[in-house]
Amino acid sequence: MKFEQMINQIVEGDSFELLKYIPDGEIDLVITSPPYYKQRDYGRGIGNEDTPEKYIENLLKIFHDCVRIVKDTGSIVFNLGDKYNEEGSLSLIPFRFAAEVLKKEPVKLVNTITWIKRNPTPRQFKRRLVSSTEPFFHFVKSNKYYYNIDEFLSESNTKKGKRRRETTNVGKKYFELIEKSSLADREKEIAREELQKVIEEVKKGEIAEFRLKIRGIHAPAFGGQEGGRKAQLEKQGFTIIRIFGNDLKRDVIESSVETIKNCPHPAIYPEYVIRELLNLLTREEDIVVDPFVGSGTTAIACKKLERKYIGFDINPEYCEYARKRLETTQARLTWF
Ligand SMILES: C[S@@+](CC[C@H](N)C(=O)[O-])C[C@H]1O[C@@H](n2cnc3c(N)ncnc32)[C@H](O)[C@@H]1O
Repeated sequence: MKFEQMINQIVEGDSFELLKYIPDGEIDLVITSPPYYKQRDYGRGIGNEDTPEKYIENLLKIFHDCVRIVKDTGSIVFNLGDKYNEEGSLSLIPFRFAAEVLKKEPVKLVNTITWIKRNPTPRQFKRRLVSSTEPFFHFVKSNKYYYNIDEFLSESNTKKGKRRRETTNVGKKYFELIEKSSLADREKEIAREELQKVIEEVKKGEIAEFRLKIRGIHAPAFGGQEGGRKAQLEKQGFTIIRIFGNDLKRDVIESSVETIKNCPHPAIYPEYVIRELLNLLTREEDIVVDPFVGSGTTAIACKKLERKYIGFDINPEYCEYARKRLETTQARLTWF
């Protein structure tokens, strides 16, 4: 099969073989969730190895090919789940895999993005907490990787940004305090200028809020980083503390575990998380590969966001299901 024929297709087969058809450096993003170790029976394929070491070795072979096909500006994202061993200890398989990748491949780990499951399996144990997170490892080949941080979690941030732009009285009380303070005229002038700048940052939604401390009015806080602030307060007459609030782009994505009625696949990953990562790491028309596409979630997210996709899966039933899902999915569908 030719590479061009794979574009926007779900291809049935073994990824060990199929990845070979993709030429070097053609792909913008590989994003995938390989079968977890001995968690589910998918029939054939990866995940049924006798030891975790053998499983990691197989994943590393796939990863090696992913590095080959990805552009220098591209990214590779692997989502893996952990497992308790027979002694009741977590095996740390995802992190052991990531550590081996860093040893063996010319890649950097940019982030371990944690997916927080809002609705984990509701089964409480007496002697341990309920597992409700999974890592998404974000690897890159070079520092030239495409990255659109403004688009990450942009829907919720836009709403907050709008609300802030309407804030008219922000910082007003601080102008009054500067006037009343015992700062010298020049110090007051600088404080007013800096206050005006930080008010603009709030209005643009760049920061959530701020505090201004003025010498003689506010007591300096003690300890840690505040030591620097204390010196600033004494020397300059004022200090500004910027608060980034929820607009800070953190390495977590909260989303529910998804279930689709009559879906034959037992473990799909959340489309919402994949859309966020597509927004962060790709542009429209970029090519995205998922070597373990399962029910087709990656392809669905790509279709909605107008990215090209190639999905492989060894199980014919899942391939058929993914194709059907894609038939009823429209590009740029409004989902919010
Ligand atoms: C965790 S599931 C992926 C689920 C997918 N992210 C979704 O949202 O539906 C892993 C998939 O890998 C497939 N698989 C296992 N070994 C494979 C191999 N060697 N080549 C291609 N697919 C394989 C399984 O059939 C299974 O559908």
